[in-house]
Amino acid sequence: MNQFSTLGSYPAVRMRRNRADDWTRRLVAENVLSANDLIWPIFLKEGSMRSEAITSMPGQVRVTLDGLIEHAGRAVDLGIPAIALFPVIASDRKDSEGREATNPDNLICTASRLLKATYPSLGLIGDVALDPYTTHGHDGVLRDGLIANDESLDILAQQAMVLAQAGIDTLAPSDMMDGRIGKLRTTLDLAGLTDVRLMSYAAKYASGFYGPFRDALGSSGALKGDKRTYQMDPANSHEALREVAMDLQEGADMIMVKPGMPYLDIIQRVTTTFNVPTFAYQVSGEYSMIKGAINNGWLDADTVILESLMAFKRAGCSGVLTYFAIEAAERLKRG
Ligand code: PBG
Repeated sequence: MNQFSTLGSYPAVRMRRNRADDWTRRLVAENVLSANDLIWPIFLKEGSMRSEAITSMPGQVRVTLDGLIEHAGRAVDLGIPAIALFPVIASDRKDSEGREATNPDNLICTASRLLKATYPSLGLIGDVALDPYTTHGHDGVLRDGLIANDESLDILAQQAMVLAQAGIDTLAPSDMMDGRIGKLRTTLDLAGLTDVRLMSYAAKYASGFYGPFRDALGSSGALKGDKRTYQMDPANSHEALREVAMDLQEGADMIMVKPGMPYLDIIQRVTTTFNVPTFAYQVSGEYSMIKGAINNGWLDADTVILESLMAFKRAGCSGVLTYFAIEAAERLKRG
């Protein structure tokens, strides 16, 4: 006996009946994808050129502050609830400790104040990690060639504070230092910033799929070594559950798994085990892979973009960070 033994069999049962027409398919659909499920990552650059193409991410741009309001307005118009901001910092502003990350007038803080003043109801997600700001491209500080975990926590907490004070309502720590969620929660709470949410990149893998993102930031050439001493080993699955459990205990409000498509098994384990709001990050490499094939005429944009996002809903996600957010929302609107 199993759960299927009472459901009958062919010819009495014909699975195709429920697929026979559009209204039946809509009626029996188990999952729905809407604009409410999308978070759009945006690359911000200093200067005033409005926008600059990112070669390894066709269709995505680095936008400067003078073009930001129009750019982010596309998300607002389509009903996308939130955007995630990533800074592209000039190399003369980088140092070995990523000090620019804690400058209350840095690019992200300035952008955040501008966006909050223009679009008060647009959710702003700010990454907490030092890699855009360090000369070595690592997410924490290096001491004698090693990542200094606890020293990094102090700087990350300062970064979190300036972001929160500038209006970022959700902090997304992507640094993978141990103890960062607890550190940030305590720091924010002590400052009275109790409503600032923490969306933890809890299970973040040391992945080759971040390649185009590092190009976009200009950190790929600079990166010394790799991130395998802090990001997770792609071979591991149980370890992801432990990471998530710890982050929830330390005060995370939402959980992220990253990359997305190659780690759908992890997403499903996390959502079924914890039942907390979980997000997938369909990362730069996944975007470029799909977009590249579309641009070559090898894949059909009208089917694969939404199909790739529906996979995350099926796996139990509340939503997805995706560079396809605008294209997807436009397609969903068209129906
Ligand atoms: C770094 C960070 C990375 C991404 C988001 N935050 C890259 C990395 O860990 O090297 C990747 C996102 C993407 O590939 O789209 N803190």
